[in-house]
Amino acid sequence: MTGHPPTPNDASAAAREPVVEVNDVHVSFCGRAILRGVSLRLHRGETVVILGGSGCGKSTLLRVIIGALVPDRGEVSLLGRSFAAAAPAERDAMRTQVGILFQSAALFQSMTVGENIACVLREHTPLTDDEIEILVRIKLEMVGLRHAEELLPSEISGGMKKRVGLARALALNPAVMLYDEPGAGLDPVTLAGVDRLISTLGRVLNIASLVVTHEMQSARRIAHRMIFLHEGRVLAEGTPERIAEHADPRIRQFLRGDAQGPLSDRGVDDDYALALLGRKVLS
Ligand SMILES: Nc1ncnc2c1ncn2[C@@H]1O[C@H](COP(=O)(O)OP(=O)(O)OP(=O)(O)O)[C@@H](O)[C@H]1O
Ligand SMILES: [Mg+2]
Repeated sequence: MTGHPPTPNDASAAAREPVVEVNDVHVSFCGRAILRGVSLRLHRGETVVILGGSGCGKSTLLRVIIGALVPDRGEVSLLGRSFAAAAPAERDAMRTQVGILFQSAALFQSMTVGENIACVLREHTPLTDDEIEILVRIKLEMVGLRHAEELLPSEISGGMKKRVGLARALALNPAVMLYDEPGAGLDPVTLAGVDRLISTLGRVLNIASLVVTHEMQSARRIAHRMIFLHEGRVLAEGTPERIAEHADPRIRQFLRGDAQGPLSDRGVDDDYALALLGRKVLS
């Protein structure tokens, strides 16, 4: 078992105010309920890991938090301000408080690493070109990539791309960072480096971090708290130790990575067989 990350140390009242508050959020697509009343709170300097099976709504939840998706019910507040209550201009300003690292890093392929970061600063700040150049170097230094400024995305590795995506997400000094499967496609050593970066940035910059991951080793390494989503609801929430010892058989199966168990016995095969063959194949 890897060491537990140090807990956020600022215990002042302001620090205890949630940076992100998600209250009873419901989202449906084409009449299918995906999120069915999700609530969570994120505080400064804290790293919360979201766990849950494929398709349970983790990325959807991140899209609601960045304000890209309006929930059918419930609300999201950033720094105490509700998205729904904010005017469009204020909503845009709120969005700049949230940085997101997409699974693919989503870099502009025709721009150098440095330009990929500069373009965000050019779009959202009144800074001069000289100031932007300095900031780009600072952001690249933060992720250990000063030397890669002039390279194109096609000239760097997957792990480096992820770090460039991270530098870009940090360009506007967000209060919150969202990570959608930051470990996807990385070897274990590179992933450990990205994990360390996530933890360090959270601690040093006092950022609230929400990380969706399937990598349990990584989750244990970085999480102060874990939230287990299942069928659009929070099934369990707590410290990594608490989740590791959870009695729910669905959580136990997920943590063990077993193919057999309550998560896989969902009756889908039966329904499928019934629709296809007119009879059940499983007893
Ligand atoms: N824009 C959309 N229109 C219709 N259905 C959608 C849309 N976005 C997501 N869904 C559906 O919502 C469900 C949840 O998707 P989501 O991407 O949030 O899952 P996830 O938990 O992130 O899964 P994974 O671990 O595989 O990334 C899926 O069944 C998906 O097909
Ligand atoms: Mg996803």
